[in-house]
Amino acid sequence: MISSVLPTYTRAPLSFVKGEGTWLIEADGRRFLDLGAGIAVNALGHAHPALTRALTDQAGALWHTSNLYQIPQQQALADKLVEHTFADTVFFTNSGTEACELAVKMARKYFHDKGQPERVEIITFDGSFHGRSSAGIAAAGSEKMTKGFGPLLPGFVHLAFGDHEALNAAITDTTCAVLVEPVQGEGGIRPLPDACLKGLRDLCDEKGILMILDEVQCGVGRTGKLFAHEWAGVTPDIMMVAKGIGGGFPLGAVLATEEAASGMTAGTHGSTYGGNPLGCAVGCAVMDIVADPDFLAEVNRKAGLLRQKLEGLVASHPDVLEEVRGSGLMLGLKCKVAPADLVAAGYGVEVITVPAADNVVRLLPPLNITDEEIAEAVSRLDRAAGALAAS
Ligand SMILES: Cc1ncc(COP(=O)(O)O)c(C=O)c1O
Repeated sequence: MISSVLPTYTRAPLSFVKGEGTWLIEADGRRFLDLGAGIAVNALGHAHPALTRALTDQAGALWHTSNLYQIPQQQALADKLVEHTFADTVFFTNSGTEACELAVKMARKYFHDKGQPERVEIITFDGSFHGRSSAGIAAAGSEKMTKGFGPLLPGFVHLAFGDHEALNAAITDTTCAVLVEPVQGEGGIRPLPDACLKGLRDLCDEKGILMILDEVQCGVGRTGKLFAHEWAGVTPDIMMVAKGIGGGFPLGAVLATEEAASGMTAGTHGSTYGGNPLGCAVGCAVMDIVADPDFLAEVNRKAGLLRQKLEGLVASHPDVLEEVRGSGLMLGLKCKVAPADLVAAGYGVEVITVPAADNVVRLLPPLNITDEEIAEAVSRLDRAAGALAAS
C-alpha cells in the first residue's frame, strides 16, 4: 500500500526534532553535527537568534497580504540585493525551481520584445540541476529526471560540461541564453573555473545572448563571496537564487539587470506567496549577516581550515577517498566507495553529509560553523571512513 506521504524520496531513518547552530538533535536525543545544512539551506545554522527574531516578530505582525499591495519587507530585501549585487531588479519566489521558471521566461521574453522571437533556445550543461518543474527537468535534461515525463518543454540544448568548442558551435541565431551553475551542486561539486566563466561572459557578449547563472546552491556566501560569480570578476544578466537566502524559510529570487528584465512588465509574471512578509523579513536578516565583508572573510578562513583538514582525511583513507574539491564551504569528497555508504557510515558516528552525483559526498555546513566544530566534524568523518575501510 502506498505510504500517506508520496514515496518520491529514499529517506534515512532519522527524525530530527530540534536544531541548535550546527547541531541537529534526533528524537532519541543523539546530537548530529550537520554538514548538510538542509542541502545548503540553513546558511546560518539552526535557530539562529536573529532569524528566529525576524520570523517571530513578523509572524506576530502580519503573515500575508499578496502582491496586490506594497510589501515593505519585500522592498527592503530587494533594495539590499540590488545594493550588494550586479542586479537592478529582483522578483521573489518560494524556491529555486520557481526562480528557474522565471529565468527561462525572462530570457525568452527579452528577445521576443526585441523583435527576435526565434531566439528561444537555452544552452545548458551535463550534470546540471535546475529543479523539478517541467522547465527545470528539461533544462537539466538528464534521463534520470526526464524519463516518463514527456513531452518535455522544448528549447534546451545540452552540452558536455567544459567543452568550449561545442559551446561555440552550439550558439546560433535561435539561442537566447546560456544557463550554468558556477559550481554544480547536485552534479557533484564541480566548479566552473574562473577563466571559463570569464570566457563564457565574453562569448555571450560577442554573440549577443544572455548569461543566466544558477546560484541556488552556490550563492549567498557559500563559496566565500556573496555570490560565486564574483570570484571570476564577471556579472550575469540574470541570476537564480534560493536556499541560503531564506536560511531555512522557503524563499527564492531572480535577480536581473534592467536590460535583461525589460520584457517583464505588469501582468507578465506573478506569484501568490513569492515575496511574502515572513520570507522577506527572514531574508533581510540573512542578508544583514552574510553580506558583511567580515562575515565573508570568516567563511573563507574556515573554508581553508576545513579544506586543509579534509586533504589530510583523504591522505589517511586512500582506499575510501580520492580527492577534495569545491569552493569555500561548498566542498565535495570524491569517493572510491559508493557515496551513500560514506553518508550512512557518517550517520553511525553522528555526522550529516549529503550524497551527490559523480561519486561525491557533499559537505555544505552552516557558514557560521566554528573551528571546534570543524575539527570535530573531520574527526567524525575520519571514524566513518575508517569504518568503511575496515568493512
Ligand atoms: C543549482 C540548483 N538549482 C535549482 C534547484 C531547485 O531549487 P528548489 O529545490 O528550491 O526548487 C536546486 C536545488 O537543489 C539547485 O541545487
